[in-house]
Amino acid sequence: MQDGQYEAPLYSSLLKHLQNGYAHLHLPAHRQGQALSALWKSLDLDIFKIDLTELPGLDNLHNPKGPIAGAQSLAAGLYGADRTFFLVNGTSVGLQALLMVVCRPGEKIIIPRDSHRSVLTGLVLSGADPVYLVSSMVEGFGIPEGPDQAQPARALEACGAAKGVLITYPNYYGIAAGLKNMAKAVHGAGRPLVADEAHAAHFPFHPSLPESGLSCGADASVMSMHKMGGSLTQSSLLHLQGGYIDPEETAAALACLQTSSPSYPLLVSLDLARHLLAERGRELLDGAVQKAGQVRESAEKIPGLKVLSGRHLKKGYSLDPTRITISGAGLGLSGFQLSAMLVKYGVHVEMADFVNIVAVIGIGTTEEDCGRLVDSLKEISRERRPVARSLPAPPVLPALPPQRLTPRQAWFSGKRKVLLEDCAGLVCGEWAAVYPPGIPVIYPGEEFTPEIVEYLKWVKAAGAPVAGPADPELRTFRVIG
Ligand SMILES: Cc1ncc(COP(=O)(O)O)c(C=O)c1O
Repeated sequence: MQDGQYEAPLYSSLLKHLQNGYAHLHLPAHRQGQALSALWKSLDLDIFKIDLTELPGLDNLHNPKGPIAGAQSLAAGLYGADRTFFLVNGTSVGLQALLMVVCRPGEKIIIPRDSHRSVLTGLVLSGADPVYLVSSMVEGFGIPEGPDQAQPARALEACGAAKGVLITYPNYYGIAAGLKNMAKAVHGAGRPLVADEAHAAHFPFHPSLPESGLSCGADASVMSMHKMGGSLTQSSLLHLQGGYIDPEETAAALACLQTSSPSYPLLVSLDLARHLLAERGRELLDGAVQKAGQVRESAEKIPGLKVLSGRHLKKGYSLDPTRITISGAGLGLSGFQLSAMLVKYGVHVEMADFVNIVAVIGIGTTEEDCGRLVDSLKEISRERRPVARSLPAPPVLPALPPQRLTPRQAWFSGKRKVLLEDCAGLVCGEWAAVYPPGIPVIYPGEEFTPEIVEYLKWVKAAGAPVAGPADPELRTFRVIG
């Protein structure tokens, strides 16, 4: 064999990772199989034995009539949907498909400016023309709160031609906007409401969690069962209720976007995660909510740390208590630095931004995971104190730029690379979101304003993380023409 072909770098890294015995405060929620349906456990399953295909008796995801149809129907029953589809390319594919169903090229759709990147790709696929809802910010944490509950109504009034509204519920920090009032307003205008519930698969199972999107009145909801629901990574659910969104068109869009070889391990993991939540959802979420409460209480007492709670949010928003956002700014630490220090203590959290870390307590998180997180935070605080420190504040995000092309028109236009300092007045061919706040500064088809160029120059000098641009150093941008 050629040099290097005896090695398997990903395999080796995974093995090493497992040997390190980290504490896991991150997704997926099953936490390496800690929270599994009794059925899954009793099988003593070898993953290769179930890596099968559409054999007789095993049904077909794209035209289900047997056990896949049965499993989807049980999931619909559990979540209160009229119809549920299993997805094997995450919530991303569900949102893309729904955008293709709700909008034709050139039609308007109202979406939060800080939507997930799959919404942007959904705009490219559908050709929809976005109207943005701009989020307020949570003071002291530098993170978006999400659009407030009155915004969709105002946007629909201003743009009567919009075909629907999409809302992220909750966002990555667990902040959930007042969806019920939004649904009333959107239905009042005769339009559908789509909920991006990527982080909400556990909401229906505990009264301390925000109300689920469907019970707030959403017409469609896409949830990453693999994030908070206990299934394998990549597996999600798309739910429909009411008459606004056509199930057949949805099935056709999904058949267009999803693989013709869906993975049976993913599909069965959806069936078994649903089984687990139906049987023990409340009990498992009781445990997660209680552990999260203890971590919050302990972390709030640690000098130099600040923990996001409901009291930091404006009226009309609620917070998923199992999502713990912690700022170490009082220790002079960015979220990235705090997260890197935690790794040295053997603790992995879900996410870090410039200001915060986000730890997730899911149905599989153990007492030991929580204890190790709290002990490590205490150690870090002791190391960093007693000097009072603070982080430099990033500049304010510039105003929305003028949109010259739809994202789809921009995607299919010719592009060239231009130095950032020469971009003012040109139309951007890509998107760029700086973390935090994670709100795109520019979308494809929008014009670079002088303020945006100045802001991006600051970002480049500060080395802040940016998602989207082909040149991650931000020396150049791809522009149209
Ligand atoms: C708000 C939001 N929506 C959608 C997605 C996409 O979900 P998936 O990874 O299941 O495709 C994510 C993923 O992190 C997300 O955070």
